[in-house]
Amino acid sequence: MSKTVTIHAPGTVANLVCGFDVLGLALHQPYDIMSIKLKDEPTVTIINKDEFNLPTDPEKNVAGVVLLSMMEKLNNETGFELTIEKHIKPGSGIGSSAASAAGAAVAANELLDKQFSKEELVQFAMNGEKLASGVKHADNIAPCIYGGVTLIRSIHPLDIVQVPAPELYVTVVHPQIEVRTSDARQILKKQILLKDAIKQWGNVAGLVAGFIKSDYDLIGRSLEDVIIEPVRSILIPGFDEVKSKSKAAGALGGGISGSGPSIFMLSKDEASAKAVEIVMQEIYNKIGIDYNTYVTKINGEGVRVVDSK
Ligand code: HSE
Repeated sequence: MSKTVTIHAPGTVANLVCGFDVLGLALHQPYDIMSIKLKDEPTVTIINKDEFNLPTDPEKNVAGVVLLSMMEKLNNETGFELTIEKHIKPGSGIGSSAASAAGAAVAANELLDKQFSKEELVQFAMNGEKLASGVKHADNIAPCIYGGVTLIRSIHPLDIVQVPAPELYVTVVHPQIEVRTSDARQILKKQILLKDAIKQWGNVAGLVAGFIKSDYDLIGRSLEDVIIEPVRSILIPGFDEVKSKSKAAGALGGGISGSGPSIFMLSKDEASAKAVEIVMQEIYNKIGIDYNTYVTKINGEGVRVVDSK
């Protein structure tokens, strides 16, 4: 009987406010569940076990294109049957497509006796992001595969740096509106002012230094985005209020998760993270938009193999 591998692929927060396309972190909650087995014929079968109605044609499915790219590398000598149970809603801004892509790559690699490196898995998984958003970006994929906080110093050539970080709580609110990453990228300015660039790279460097030094105040001061947030936040009702009231409730800071509509806040302790959750709930109750919230922590492991038999 052929082996079945089951994995959990976590949600991720990309950009980390100032680090557009270059910083990301993995979450413990929510996560997708995927099971994979080998097939004799070189084709990909996708079985969806959730209500999201995602395409089962592997060419049109984020996980499917990742598996097809792995098969091509293996000279199409094998195929895969992948069962997907998504819990990270597509279009949420918490790395739904990355979880599908990275989860499929890690799960398949487990079946293939880990013949590919993590860096190669990121390369395969980026094909899924290309399908989802039109662009190969790795700030969800890399933390999903490596865990923790990751810096993508460069895509060409791929240069991923794992950034040590202190214990941090993450509160996420997902207002139930859909923002497509491709649309959220389309509206960005193509040119920026030097003075804004200086502020932004000061913040990116400050945030990375803050993580490495476990300097919570520096982390908080550096969670500022003068380039992307002013444009994208317009798409998210209640954004400014969530941000200011979350900070007043004890958050170090935060902003748009990925390309939105989710908003995330980092806190030093669980009590603050829970106080922030209440603030977020009150705001979306008042506005009248359905939402989900999560109070979770940084996931240092990334995609986890939970069964292999
Ligand atoms: N860095 C990407 C973007 C992440 O903000 O467009 C998308 O989840």
